[in-house]
Parts: sequence; C-alpha cells; structure tokens
Amino acid sequence: MKATHVWHLQLNVKDIVVMSGSRKRPVWIILLVNFVILFLIVAYVYSPTTSAACFIFSSKDCTLTFHKQPPALKVPARELTDGETISQVVISEILRTPPVESNNPKIAFLFLTPGTLPFEALWAKFFQGHEGRFSVYVHASREKPVHKTRYFKGRDIHSESVAWGQISMVDAERRLLAQALLDPDNQQFVLLSESCIPLQNFDYVYNYLMLTNVSFIDCFVDLGPHGSGRYSEHMMPEVEKKDFRKGSQWFALKRQHAIITMADSLYYTKFRYYCKPNMEGRNCYADEHYLPTFFNMIDPGGIANRSVTYVDWSERRWHPKSFKPVDITLEFLKNLTSIDDFIHFTSDSKRVLTGPCTWNGIKRPCYLFARKFYPETLEKLTLLFSNYTTLSV
Ligand SMILES: *[C@@H]1O[C@H](CO)[C@@H](O)[C@H](O)[C@H]1NC(C)=O
Ligand SMILES: *[C@@H]1O[C@H](CO)[C@@H](O)[C@H](O)[C@H]1NC(C)=O
Ligand SMILES: *[C@@H]1O[C@H](CO)[C@@H](O)[C@H](O)[C@H]1NC(C)=O
Ligand SMILES: *[C@@H]1O[C@H](CO)[C@@H](O)[C@H](O)[C@H]1NC(C)=O
Repeated sequence: MKATHVWHLQLNVKDIVVMSGSRKRPVWIILLVNFVILFLIVAYVYSPTTSAACFIFSSKDCTLTFHKQPPALKVPARELTDGETISQVVISEILRTPPVESNNPKIAFLFLTPGTLPFEALWAKFFQGHEGRFSVYVHASREKPVHKTRYFKGRDIHSESVAWGQISMVDAERRLLAQALLDPDNQQFVLLSESCIPLQNFDYVYNYLMLTNVSFIDCFVDLGPHGSGRYSEHMMPEVEKKDFRKGSQWFALKRQHAIITMADSLYYTKFRYYCKPNMEGRNCYADEHYLPTFFNMIDPGGIANRSVTYVDWSERRWHPKSFKPVDITLEFLKNLTSIDDFIHFTSDSKRVLTGPCTWNGIKRPCYLFARKFYPETLEKLTLLFSNYTTLSV
C-alpha cells in the first residue's frame, strides 16, 4: 500500500514539472491538488494513532499500530552521582533477582513498642494454631516488656530509645527488619505498634500477604504544608521535590523490599540529615516520608500505595483517633473489616484522596490490622475476636 502511494507521489511530482512547463493550464490548481494529495499521503503514512486523524485518514488498526511503536528511551535528566550509580546497580540487581523460595514461608510480625504490649493476649489468640507460619520480633524502646505468652517470650531484640517522628523511629524499623531477615523463611515483614490489633484471622492475613507480589507501603502526594511543605532543598540532587511522598509508617514489606531497605544508605542518609523536626523552621518526620519516597522512586509498580493497617484520621488532629471500650461493638469491627476503599487525608486545602483497594487486580477489603486502641478495649476485643474475624480469602 505504502509503495503504491509513494509511486503516485513520484508520478504527481513529475506531472507538475511537465504540466507547469506547458504554461497552458492554471498551474496553481495543479499545485494545490498535488499538495492536498501529498498531505493525505503523509497523513496516511505518519498518522498519529491516538488522534482523530488516525481514524479519518488511516485504514490501519489505530490501537494496534500504537503498540508497535518502539517506546521512547528514557534519557536521564542529569549525570548521576557516584552514590546514585552504586545505588542503582545494587537496587536493580536485587529487583531483578527472584526471591529464594522457602519450603516453610513465614510472616515476620515486627512490634515497635515502648514496653509491655497491651494486646499480647489478643495476638496470642490470633497466632494460636498457626505455629511454624510466623515469627515475632519485639523492639521495646523504653522498658523491658513483660511477656505472658509463649509467642512473645524471648522475642525481644536489641533496642534503642525512639523519639516520636524522628529518625530513631526509622532506625528501630531497620533493626527489626535486619533481625527478621536473618531467618530465611521470613517472606513478609509486617510492622505493628503496641496499639494495633488484628482485624482478620491468621489464614486470611497469611494468604493476603503471601499470595501477592507487592509491598503494602502507604504512599501519596500531599502538596500541602504537611507533605511537600516539609521537603528541604538539601535533599537535592538525589531526592527532588516532585518525588517527595507521604504515608503512614505501618508497612507490610516483601522480602526483596526488606533487603533493599537494608542496602540503602544513600537515601536514608538524606532523610536522616534533612528530614527532621525543626529543620529550617519546619518539622519533617522521617518515618512518614523516607520509605514512601524511596519506594516511589525505585519501584513504584511494586508497592500498593496503601497500608493494610486501618487508622482513623478523620478528626484531622495531630494524632489519629484512639478507640475506647465504648466504641467496641461487633458492628463497628465488622465495618472496619469490610472497608474496601482507601482514604488519604492531605494538608493541601484539606483534599481527600480515595479509591478502591485492589489485591492482585480485584477489589478486596483494605485492612488486616487496625489502630489505635486503648488498652482497656482488650477484654471486649478478645471476646469478639472470633466473631469479627470470619472472612476467608
Ligand atoms: C508474582 O510474580 C511471579 C514472577 O513474576 C509470577 O510468576 C507470579 O504469578 C506472581 N504472583 C502473583 C500472585 O501475582
Ligand atoms: C502506586 O503509585 C505509582 C505512582 O503513582 C504507580 O506507578 C503504581 O502503579 C501504583 N501501584 C499500584 C499497585 O497501583
Ligand atoms: C457501620 O457502617 C454503617 C454503614 O456505613 C453505618 O451506618 C454504621 O453507623 C456503622 N456502625 C458503626 C458502629 O460504626
Ligand atoms: C460470637 O460468636 C459466638 C459463637 O459463635 C456466639 O455465641 C456469640 O453470641 C457471638 N457474639 C456476638 C456479640 O454476636
């Protein structure tokens, strides 16, 4: 087809020469006709496949030809620093290497707590009967916890003090990840606080986390003072403002991502020094920005951009709502287990971002865990546990 048109084109060009030489015909009409033909040919051959021109001028399948076009090469905007090149090599190598399969895959439950865990008995109920499919690690930053159940006894790791919103929080998370990575059977790494409770039963949680390829890291754009407003130009050139993200720290990481977190010192260092309280008159909280920004930069398709831990920010205070015994009813807990849209509260003109929670492409309930609960709710929660955790994957 193309060859025929090109041939016509050559013929027409020749015709122009011949005809204009005769001076007996209105040359401008011939020229005009030829230009129209030329235009149509060019439009046919190079028709932009996404525009209306594609459908007007082309007989080809527009969408099919679109996919045949080679993808544009990504040209780096600037020369990378040595640190970035090293980082890129290490990270892309880890991302390319399929994780080592374990015959006995386990979930590591990482508890970040000041001391004794008020919901230990509830967690014990959750773990009961699933021995060998999980492991527990406790980072107690203030005082040595008193453990009452066998699932928690002897599971304290070396810990250091943790200050709210500071890099010491990220350090504690890294310490927990490192300890848990020592066990090659641990495939998923869930970070929990002392005020977290399980929302589903063990089998549901296990399948939800094990049968997917993404990490559940909360990550969104907040253009307001509590989002990009916390960014410091000192993070340049490695972290640009447009890459700065926010998200709750309560993650569920796949093993590959946990290893990458251990391997990173470049981006970690940027947040350590330039995302902290009272940085140039602003308060930046590393635990809310480091992992969301880092994973959004290095593996955006590998994270779900949402947390699996429910929290209620609807009051828009400094801390999320804490639930009291009076709030705890079967209806309330059932409501939490059935939520299937995520919600992100931003600080830019109080925008609210929401969308469906998907799991391997299908809409599913968002949450496996929830916070924050007062210790006094333990009794009611324990009583209702087997009633509200009745979903199955
Ligand atoms: C995870 O990724 C592997 C390799 O790409 C693929 O074989 C597997 O089907 C994926 N699993 C899920 C649950 O998507
Ligand atoms: C998470 O967000 C990034 C960037 O906004 C996007 O590329 C990615 O597809 C999202 N992940 C999922 C699982 O939707
Ligand atoms: C549960 O959800 C329903 C429907 O959204 C709502 O009407 C009801 O007030 C909720 N109950 C509790 C206890 O939160
Ligand atoms: C919880 O389940 C148990 C046993 O299935 C039942 O006896 C009890 O009434 C239920 N409690 C509530 C509040 O529905």
